[in-house]
Amino acid sequence: MQSNRVIIFDTTLRDGEQSPGASMNTAEKLEVAQALADLRVDVIEAGFPIASPGDFEAVRAIAQQIVGPTIAGLARCNKADIERAGDAIRPAERGRIHVFLATSAIHREFKLNMAKEEILRRSVEGVKLARTFTDDIEFSPEDASRTEPEFLAQVIEAVIGAGATTVNIPDTVGYATPDEFGDLFRYLFNQVPNIDRAVISVHCHNDLGLAVANSLAAVKAGARQVECTINGIGERAGNCSLEEVVMALRTRHDHWGLETNVQTKRLHPTSRLVANTTGLHVQRNKAIVGQNAFAHEAGIHQDGMLKNRITYEIMHPEDVGLTRTELVLGKHSGRHALRQRVIDMGYSINEAELDMVFEEFKRLCDKKKEIFDADIEALIEKKLHVGTNAWELATLHTAAGSSCVPSATVTLKRSDGESFMKAEFGDGPVDAIFRAMESITGYRGVRLTDYQVRSVTGGQDAQGEVYVEVKHEGKVYRARSVSTDIVEASATAFLNVLNRIAAGQSQRPPAESTNQMAQKEDA
Ligand code: KIV
Ligand code: ZN
Repeated sequence: MQSNRVIIFDTTLRDGEQSPGASMNTAEKLEVAQALADLRVDVIEAGFPIASPGDFEAVRAIAQQIVGPTIAGLARCNKADIERAGDAIRPAERGRIHVFLATSAIHREFKLNMAKEEILRRSVEGVKLARTFTDDIEFSPEDASRTEPEFLAQVIEAVIGAGATTVNIPDTVGYATPDEFGDLFRYLFNQVPNIDRAVISVHCHNDLGLAVANSLAAVKAGARQVECTINGIGERAGNCSLEEVVMALRTRHDHWGLETNVQTKRLHPTSRLVANTTGLHVQRNKAIVGQNAFAHEAGIHQDGMLKNRITYEIMHPEDVGLTRTELVLGKHSGRHALRQRVIDMGYSINEAELDMVFEEFKRLCDKKKEIFDADIEALIEKKLHVGTNAWELATLHTAAGSSCVPSATVTLKRSDGESFMKAEFGDGPVDAIFRAMESITGYRGVRLTDYQVRSVTGGQDAQGEVYVEVKHEGKVYRARSVSTDIVEASATAFLNVLNRIAAGQSQRPPAESTNQMAQKEDA
């Protein structure tokens, strides 16, 4: 009998981190991993330990510190990868090694140059070696959706025989369609004699916008683990979005009759944290976590909503951690009121963190009459954003107007305590700030590829959020910042980007994707 519980395997820190510009340092990964544990995902794929020393450290730190979920490390099907992954996950309460090897004719011929027999032999050997580190082994036949079904069934039977406890069926290039993908799972359930000895998992990419639909089709056919990422981030067009798949299963329980363990009230804060940490925006109309996901604009809709919410609302915003409140905080609100609001919004912060947020809150109250949820969210993210920064903004002065050349004088403090001041001219004050910062930090070839300003809430005294995207030495870096002064927000957003460049350089060389690495070694 199939279980009615779907295992949620989150790969935000591995496949998600492979999005261009989304790399995180160890402190940031730990913060996201804790949020995923609070969200109650079942498995956290913490990284690809062989990819770099930084990746190994991050997986190990997560295995040491995060309790609750199983911690998985990815490995190609070779000795060095599997041993490295085994070492990285060793400290975990429950650790998993996730071994993968491509099986499709295209990958066999053009990437691996291996015959079917060799793929079979290596898969079995890889699983057996991984079993010497842990009993929890997942095997993925990469590019499964484009693999001959008979050969795929043969590989699955062999790896289960060798000790794989989960077999994951990836649609690596986002090529599948829901009907045919569901049929593939039904075929495998019928053809693989020992399939009941493993959990069958699904892993979809979103190249045709079908990742969630394909994952749900696989679940309908019997898959009981879904691999997904927060906000759907991942290689190219991304992976199956965790929040969408979880809320689809929950909202249409009548259709699927399946449960997950996810605490859905934590979806919105986790989504904000991941967006803030990676710098990858969530589009406004994104299902579940987009800013407009629960906004009703049309008069007819608003009228219906006032009469009865169910006229136009299939889920309650509260269920995904969005609080609907008329309560606005201001300068007379105390620490207790702020704490309550923070809890109601789904964040869990300790007393020391609350002190920091309260201090910022009071400062904001001097600039802004009413403080809305979005303001508090921005404060929490700004204050609690972790990571050791190479540079801090000490002072900022700008001059601009219709009759002068815009200029900026910036002082930055380096992590060793030394301060550096620089003045520059520019096309405008923001350009002048960016130039001054580039000249202090020495990052000369930084090319601004996107710059956006938006207001966090309504009102003339609203905080402005600035989003900055740059290219440096072929890599993309993104960051955001918030302030009531958009010039200051621009400065801190750009400095956040420079700090990311600094962290990237000191932690690891420009990251290669797992697929590129696999090609290099296996070829
Ligand atoms: O998309 C893919 O095939 C993968 C595997 C490593 C599971 O990410
Ligand atoms: Zn993938």
